[in-house]
Amino acid sequence: MPTLDEVREALRQVKFPGFSRDIVSFGVVQDITLSADRIRLVLAPPAGTPDLIARLRPEIEERISALAGRLPLEIVEVAPPATKAQGRATDPPHGHGDTRIAGVRAILAVAGGKGGVGKSTVATNLALALAAEGLRTGLLDADVYGPSTTLLLGVEGAHTRVTPEKRIVPLVAHGIPMVSMGLFVEQKQAVIWRGPMVTKLVREFLHNVEWGELDVLVLDLPPGTGDVQLTLAQQVSMDGGLIVTTPQEVALADVRRGMRMFEQMHVPVLGVLENMSGYVCPHCSHETLIFGSGGGQRLAAELSLPFLGSIPLLPAVGARGDEGTPIVASEPQSPAALRFRELARDLMRSLALGSAA
Ligand SMILES: Nc1ncnc2c1ncn2[C@@H]1O[C@H](COP(=O)(O)OP(=O)(O)O)[C@@H](O)[C@H]1O
Ligand SMILES: [Mg+2]
Repeated sequence: MPTLDEVREALRQVKFPGFSRDIVSFGVVQDITLSADRIRLVLAPPAGTPDLIARLRPEIEERISALAGRLPLEIVEVAPPATKAQGRATDPPHGHGDTRIAGVRAILAVAGGKGGVGKSTVATNLALALAAEGLRTGLLDADVYGPSTTLLLGVEGAHTRVTPEKRIVPLVAHGIPMVSMGLFVEQKQAVIWRGPMVTKLVREFLHNVEWGELDVLVLDLPPGTGDVQLTLAQQVSMDGGLIVTTPQEVALADVRRGMRMFEQMHVPVLGVLENMSGYVCPHCSHETLIFGSGGGQRLAAELSLPFLGSIPLLPAVGARGDEGTPIVASEPQSPAALRFRELARDLMRSLALGSAA
C-alpha cells in the first residue's frame, strides 16, 4: 500500500498538457483517499478543459499502478472550484466574461520556445508598429524573470507611479504605455520567483494597471511554458498568439510546444514569425540568407500554421534595440521596420482590428 505522499508524488509526474507544470501544483488534484480496497482521486479540470481527465487518465493509471499494483483506482471528476480567476465553469473556453482586461479590446501574445530568439525585440517593435498603424497600443512585459522591454525601449532605471488606489500607472515610452518588471527591480538583478509569487505578479499586471482604453495589448511572454503562461491562461482570454523562431536550427519541437501551449490556453495561433533570418546589407539592401531559405516557411507549413514572414538579422535591430531605440521608432523606413509594419497590418486583419484613425 503506497502512502499519500507517494501517490501525490506520482501525480506530480503528470504534466498539464502543453505546460511544464504538473497537475498537482496546478490544483487539478482536489483529494486523494487511500483505503484497503482502492485508491480514490478527486480531480477537477480547470474551466475550458472538459476533456482533460479523459486525456490524462491513461498516464495517471499507469503511474498509480506502478505504485499500487492491482489495487483498483477510482477517479472522480468534479467541477472546477468556482473562483473568479478561472472564470465560471459555464463560460465558453474563449469566454469574454470576466476574462477581459477592462478597457482593452484585444490581447496579442508573443511567444517562443526558447530565450534569445527575439521575442522581446519582436513584441516591442510590433507594439510600436501597431501604434504607427493608428491603434491605441500597450506593451505588457510578462517576462517577470528576465524583463528586457525597459532596456529595449530605453527606459531602464525609470520607475512608474502608483495611484492612491494602488493601481499601476504605465510608463509611456516612445509613445506607448508599457509595464514591465524592469520598472520595479534593478536591471540585471536575477529575479527568482516561486510559482505562487509569479501568479500574484501576473495577476497584478493584468488587472491592476491603468491602461485606459487600448485597441490592443501586446504581451511579451517568457520562454517556454511555465507559471506565467499558466496564470495568463487562467486569467484572461487572449485573442491571438504568434510564435517567434529563428532559422538556425529548424526548431520544430520548440514551435510545436508553443503551438500546443496556445491551444491549451484556447488562444488562436496567428502564425510563425521567423526572426534573424538573413542579413540585409545596410548599403545596398541586398539580403543574404545566411542560414538557407524557407526554414520558417517549411516549419509553418508542416504545422499547418500561417507563415507571418521573416525579420532580417540586422545589426541595427540588435544594437538599436539594446540602446533603447527600437528600429521601428529610430529608422521607420528601414527594411526591418517596414516588415514590422507589414506584420502589424497582417495581424490587424487576423484580429479584425480596424485602425482608430
Ligand atoms: N532581427 C534581429 N537582428 C539582430 N539582432 C536581433 C534581432 N532580433 C533580436 N536580436 C538580438 O538578439 C538578442 C535576443 O533578443 P530578445 O528579443 O531579447 O530575445 P528573447 O526575448 O526571445 O529572449 C538581443 O540582443 C537582441 O537585440
Ligand atoms: Mg525576452
